[in-house]
Amino acid sequence: MAGVTDIVFRGLIRKMDPGCMLATEMVSSRSLQQKPESRLMDLAPDENPIGIQLFGHEPEVMAEAAVLAQQRGADFVDINMGCPVPKITNGKDGAALMREPALAAEIVRSVRSAVSVPVTVKFRLGWDESHKNCIEFGERLEEAGACAVTVHGRTRQQRYAGVADWSLIGGVKRALGIPVFGNGDVFSPEDAERMLSSTGCDGVAVARGTLGNPWLIPRITSYIETGRLDDPPDVVDKLICAVQHALGLIKYKGVRVGTNESRRHMTHYTKGIPRSAPYRNRLTQIVCAREVVDILAELAYEAAGKEGRDRFLTSVEDYDFENSEHPGEGNSQGEGGFESPVDRVSVFPVAKPDNTVQEGGYAPTHDSCHQSC
Ligand SMILES: Cc1cc2nc3c(=O)[nH]c(=O)nc-3n(C[C@H](O)[C@H](O)[C@H](O)COP(=O)(O)O)c2cc1C
Repeated sequence: MAGVTDIVFRGLIRKMDPGCMLATEMVSSRSLQQKPESRLMDLAPDENPIGIQLFGHEPEVMAEAAVLAQQRGADFVDINMGCPVPKITNGKDGAALMREPALAAEIVRSVRSAVSVPVTVKFRLGWDESHKNCIEFGERLEEAGACAVTVHGRTRQQRYAGVADWSLIGGVKRALGIPVFGNGDVFSPEDAERMLSSTGCDGVAVARGTLGNPWLIPRITSYIETGRLDDPPDVVDKLICAVQHALGLIKYKGVRVGTNESRRHMTHYTKGIPRSAPYRNRLTQIVCAREVVDILAELAYEAAGKEGRDRFLTSVEDYDFENSEHPGEGNSQGEGGFESPVDRVSVFPVAKPDNTVQEGGYAPTHDSCHQSC
């Protein structure tokens, strides 16, 4: 997920489920020509198996980008042929390639011949209701050398609306000889199991369900492998994960971008926690690490009393506030000419901060931070 599955978020998931397969945010093949060292392709030394996802529509440019991805350590190169956002599809990228199967196949052939790692493709059911060509499209990509595909059970026209149609994903699975991953509307381990059994797919890809909920992945793995339905973590452990996420972003992207990006993640993590709304409102305005810690510690106290707050604070006692809030060496925001391929609010309304804060109703815990950071 662009704007979400950066190295920090992937690191959190990887710690909980070391063997799961992850992919980076999508990276523009074109922009790699100007900026081959893109931080969007930063991978941690131990984060395998990992795919770098590329988008673009020029076979040569995509091949060059794939070579860079392989050099950066990708275990596989994934090609995005599913992004529905006009900014992307207007340039013939993303889901627009579903209208040009010959070009899509050429891209796969070109990338395939440039790298030795497996090449996979992510696409949708088709362009719109009357052009659901995912089966022929998948067959063509398989013929061109794709090693696996992921199918999101919506058309480009649907974007993220309606319900994903898993039956057509099953159709793609039955038609292809390569592994097929089903995607769309998997929000729980039980959903994942239903997706696997109803489509016959080889795996499940999850996106929105992980927002503020990275433990969904290990819970799915555990359910599929052992049939055991693990409880999600308790509120305090959720808050500990939230703070690690925010502090990680601040460390990796710098204070300004890190806190900015953390705001929406904090909204996801705290949604559903009883009496969390006022804290969530404050979290939408954070400007420094200490403030995140303070607000989450207060929420831990609200939810689980002194024991909860103490447990929360123990988790951050080694954090060095003075030396970790460096300005960052750059950031991934805006790289590739876009911030996110989707309007997050329309895609997943929970990302929208509560708008219940009255003007002047919030007194920041750290006035100095608000003035100087
Ligand atoms: C914020 C956001 C960013 C996304 N970015 C990407 C992306 O970079 N590459 C991609 O293949 N899909 C991207 N998607 C689509 C998801 O991978 C997935 O196909 C879609 O959300 C349906 O799956 P879900 O129901 O599990 O969320 C994005 C979705 C969201 C909500």
